[in-house]
Amino acid sequence: MIKSETKDRVARVRFDRLDKKNAITVQMYAQLGAALAAAEADPQVRSVLLHGSADCFTAGNDVADFLKAPRDAGSSPARALFDTLPQMKKPVVAAVGGPAVGIGSTMLLHCDLVYAAPNARFQLPFVPLGIVPEFGSTFLLPLVAGYQRAAKLLLLGQPFTAQEACEAGIVTAVVAQADLLSEAEKVALALAALPPESIRLTKRLMKARHAQTLAATIEEETRIFTERLTSPEAKEALSAFLEKRKPNFQ
Ligand code: COA
Repeated sequence: MIKSETKDRVARVRFDRLDKKNAITVQMYAQLGAALAAAEADPQVRSVLLHGSADCFTAGNDVADFLKAPRDAGSSPARALFDTLPQMKKPVVAAVGGPAVGIGSTMLLHCDLVYAAPNARFQLPFVPLGIVPEFGSTFLLPLVAGYQRAAKLLLLGQPFTAQEACEAGIVTAVVAQADLLSEAEKVALALAALPPESIRLTKRLMKARHAQTLAATIEEETRIFTERLTSPEAKEALSAFLEKRKPNFQ
């Protein structure tokens, strides 16, 4: 589930499905999109803090959902998130501890400031799962990390540390696990106290140049991603995860 509450002009949006490592279901995407849209519309809110627990950000899309009934070409339950987070005019701060897998990593490319604890474990396992990366990451990751580093993270799909995520430009700073939430909250409060119109204009100036390419990339990725979900490679990789065995692509 997604929980959200507003305090001191900061909307706190939290993943709360720890028994499944905060894996995001169809319903949770809708809740997340609604929470972000509500924060954007609420005049009391000046910044957003996105977090899980100190041990778990999110294990990404619910793998069982991937295997359910085929979707319409190019459709995605993550659309609710695709259509809100990149367009947020208010600043978004993320606090990441533990796993940040798949969309748990790619959503960070759309946040403004990202703090990670040393226990954070990032992974972009789209290729090992027989699918392709999403949420604009094939455009944004080469942009922030450089092509060779992005290729390593996206083609091999292996886990990487908070330090590596910081070097790749996905994470702003690494902070002690015990201080993760309080540090991220401090930054969200600092942003909430700054002139909102100046923040809004600065975000727009930084993002406007890439907005069209980003939107086109998300469309193309989503179309190919949806096709790949029903491929024999993806079916084998996703079933293997749920059956707790190694996939066999022979
Ligand atoms: N979708 C659905 N269920 C998930 C999940 C996901 N993305 N990630 C974890 N879970 C479930 C596990 O199936 C397990 O359920 P169970 O207790 O009913 O068996 C429970 O959450 C705990 O996960 P587990 O794998 O035992 O925890 P771990 O600490 O050993 O590993 C992860 C944590 C995040 C490294 C590992 O769960 C993982 O790799 N998850 C898949 C991530 C993924 O591929 N996401 C999609 C990206 S596109």
